[in-house]
Amino acid sequence: MRNMSDDNEFHTARGYEIIEKQLNGITSSMEDYLEMIYRLDKSGSVRAIELAKALNVRPSSVTKMIQRLSSLDLVKYEKYGDIRLTEKGSEFGKYLYDKHCTIANFLKFIGVYENLLKDVERIEHNVSRETLKCIIHFMDFVRDNSEWIQKGWKTWIDKHNR
Ligand code: CO
Repeated sequence: MRNMSDDNEFHTARGYEIIEKQLNGITSSMEDYLEMIYRLDKSGSVRAIELAKALNVRPSSVTKMIQRLSSLDLVKYEKYGDIRLTEKGSEFGKYLYDKHCTIANFLKFIGVYENLLKDVERIEHNVSRETLKCIIHFMDFVRDNSEWIQKGWKTWIDKHNR
């Protein structure tokens, strides 16, 4: 499984608008699948059972969804075998994974802790392109100025959380 690293690069500020447009018509649950297959996909393929476990759904739901995704040419599916992302599916998966990490890092940075995962999931599926762009830029700014901004912000928020 890939690590959700804090310094993941999401330098798709130019490219992401194009992908966001292509993702029109892809449901939240399809996005969850693509993102998870991308996460689990170490050696080029993922087992349906593994995917069902990771997404906490029944294997029959996985079968149905994989059929939908495969009709859109996003995954390849062999009935009792492995699930593979197509090139397009992999591009979407990477995009969705990066988006997830960027939003998670943003929320972590501003101090969200308890509801982190839940809120990331909610935001990633509903955030507008404009807001996402602002978050990407802000996190780029934080990365480029990490020393003083992180110190300054942490000091400020620690005081205000008391
Ligand atoms: Co996610």
